[in-house]
Amino acid sequence: MSRIYIITGKGGVGKTSLAAAHAVRSAREGHNTLLVSADMAHNLGDIFQTKAGGYVQELAPCLSVLELDPYMLMREEYPNINKTISNLSGTVGAAIDSIGETYMIPGLENLFSLLKIRDLYLSGTYDRIIVDCAPTGETLSLLKLPELLAWYVEKFSPVGRTLTRVLTPVARLRYRMELPDKAAMDEIGQLYTKLIKLQDLLKNPDSSRVRLVCIPERMVVEETRRSYMYLNLYHYPVDGVFINRILPDHTGSSFMENWQRIQKGYLEELESVFTEVPITRIPWFPAEIRGMEAVERLSREALSENDLFDRPVRTDNEIYAPIEGGYSLTIRVPGASQEDVEVFMREMDVDIRIRNFMRSIPLPGVLRGAQMTSAIVADGTLTICFRTKEADG
Ligand SMILES: Nc1ncnc2c1ncn2[C@@H]1O[C@H](COP(=O)(O)OP(=O)(O)OP(=O)(O)O)[C@@H](O)[C@H]1O
Ligand SMILES: [Mg+2]
Repeated sequence: MSRIYIITGKGGVGKTSLAAAHAVRSAREGHNTLLVSADMAHNLGDIFQTKAGGYVQELAPCLSVLELDPYMLMREEYPNINKTISNLSGTVGAAIDSIGETYMIPGLENLFSLLKIRDLYLSGTYDRIIVDCAPTGETLSLLKLPELLAWYVEKFSPVGRTLTRVLTPVARLRYRMELPDKAAMDEIGQLYTKLIKLQDLLKNPDSSRVRLVCIPERMVVEETRRSYMYLNLYHYPVDGVFINRILPDHTGSSFMENWQRIQKGYLEELESVFTEVPITRIPWFPAEIRGMEAVERLSREALSENDLFDRPVRTDNEIYAPIEGGYSLTIRVPGASQEDVEVFMREMDVDIRIRNFMRSIPLPGVLRGAQMTSAIVADGTLTICFRTKEADG
């Protein structure tokens, strides 16, 4: 079965190098592999010392590379949406303040890269697609987009169509912007279906995995912990943490040995936090990872485990269980504490807010009219209890 591997982490920690090493290892095993960059600051071309560009290029047997250009994809594959977005104030985001609420979609263009990755997956050409992603902050906003946008489209369609007719002239005057026209609305409808399918693809551990790259440094450790928690909140299957640039022992230099001691503290911290995902330690090589030979070496020396592409992954996230008088819903939020988490119920959704991340989980029909009775975080798991209407009646 083919699979997508999303490699992400803080800026400069070694995402591109590790994505390339994954791809080289996969190709060496005889699996048809595509290494794709969804980071606007592409560096696949740089690492392989070739010109990658916006089209698929074969580098070696079973190994192709592609640098995605979301603006080109948007122009070519979704022309009407593109027009709508350009019409909205600001080219990158969309803010529509028409029914008393504001809808913000920052970084929307990157979504087209994800949709393209799904098309590439569906084409069946590749056994493995390795995605060199943008730094985590951006990747997280990107990964929450399918859900956010699907919600947004739900708000606007089919009601959106009516709203468009009624509000367009008003909106134009009042907000000096255009609301989506009919062609764009139809495209948005199709996009909605694709977004739902995209989520199914990326959140299913059979078809996708997310891997976090980090280095043993204070700021990076913090960010990696947070990213892991958010990825779990959004139900993405994380199956590995790669700690890169670990200094060697016994360098004979007191300067280096001091840094090594500092690293050691963070290594221990990382290992105490990531107890439920495999950790791979990667040494700091004496030279930069540039050129096929260097990538080969990284892959050989750091990614040698047999089941690199077939790791087990936890699947006990977002589980409903019957309890007396109702149901409980458990969501894994590793590293979060009770104070970080706010939970609200809104009609048929439960909204979970953790700092600036908000996730709306649609509730199943049996919870129509139910009451939320508690929301408790313990051992990295949020348990929300609901009391059904029948239990009260
Ligand atoms: N284990 C390693 N040993 C030596 N050098 C490394 C190692 N890993 C990465 N590098 C070097 O560190 C630099 C950053 O690595 P890389 O480009 O892979 O990071 P990145 O996370 O993709 O960065 P960006 O966020 O800028 O895209 C590069 O010069 C790379 O060659
Ligand atoms: Mg990079």
